[in-house]
Amino acid sequence: MKKVLITGSSGILGTELSIRLNELFDVLALPKSSSKNFLDITDFNMMYSIFKNFDPDFVINCAAFTNVDSCELNKQIARNVNVKGLMNLLKCMSKNSKMIHISTDYVFNGKDGNYKENDMKEPINYYGKTKLEADNLLMGSNSNYLIIRPNVLYSSNLSKNNHFLSWVVNSLKDKTEINVVNDQISNPVYVSDLVEVILSSLLVEYNGVYHFGSEDVISRYDFALLISKIFKLDENLINPIKTSDLKQIAKRPKKSFLNCNKIISDLNIDLYPTEYSLMRIYNS
Ligand SMILES: NC(=O)c1ccc[n+]([C@@H]2O[C@H](COP(=O)([O-])OP(=O)(O)OC[C@H]3O[C@@H](n4cnc5c(N)ncnc54)[C@H](OP(=O)(O)O)[C@@H]3O)[C@@H](O)[C@H]2O)c1
Repeated sequence: MKKVLITGSSGILGTELSIRLNELFDVLALPKSSSKNFLDITDFNMMYSIFKNFDPDFVINCAAFTNVDSCELNKQIARNVNVKGLMNLLKCMSKNSKMIHISTDYVFNGKDGNYKENDMKEPINYYGKTKLEADNLLMGSNSNYLIIRPNVLYSSNLSKNNHFLSWVVNSLKDKTEINVVNDQISNPVYVSDLVEVILSSLLVEYNGVYHFGSEDVISRYDFALLISKIFKLDENLINPIKTSDLKQIAKRPKKSFLNCNKIISDLNIDLYPTEYSLMRIYNS
């Protein structure tokens, strides 16, 4: 049985990925914070001893410092996790193992949208800068690698307000008004679909960089309206606002939707419409 190490296993992606891959592989899924088995990717010595004992065939790096505003305020920590953490992993991996790393649409400036894998990168916040540096580090290394670059992630786990869907559903259920930007446009990703793409990369060899998103391109505001429709919640609680109204610490790219033609043709997959993915979550 092939061995898979998953870092950041308690995050939005790491949680679902660990459950799914456990069915098929020998998985070591390590969260950052736990009472017993855990992994801080900035701690080289800790990582070295884990690799000595487990020696994975695949490393899936789901660990990241993802709070975009906190990255702006804590630049050193952001770079330590998002860049040096990856560097540590690469140093510990054996030559025959493969790194699967997760990038982000935030490597683009968001002026045009519909970005292809080789389009110019120009991150406008520190989070995006660290993620781009990590992508470049991996591409310049001798490692066997796959970089998947998704858009906004959402999952069926609505217990924590750690992604857009759970925040909207839980707020509307509580009858709380929410302000949602209508000028940030993306093709959001249902995390289960991303998990299946990652799974297929463990079964069929493909390398390089791949964009992954949903079929449709949608503003955060329209996404929230769609959520309220599918989950039968009150859309009148959703107010449209502009990104500039939020006065956030870090700048946000406006049109960061990704062109996914490469993954559609190379993997022979279909992208799903967001409405269909939301229906699947609602019905489950
Ligand atoms: N969420 C999105 O909308 C989105 C969009 C595009 C790309 N991505 C990318 O997708 C990947 C997965 O993101 P996600 O949404 O699952 O993020 P997430 O929910 O924030 O999970 C990230 C995980 O990394 C862990 N972590 C942080 N510092 C660490 C360290 N030093 N060592 C080990 N683990 C550490 C966190 O643990 P603690 O919680 O214990 O700190 C957390 O469990 C990331 O690379 C992210 O950049 C995400």
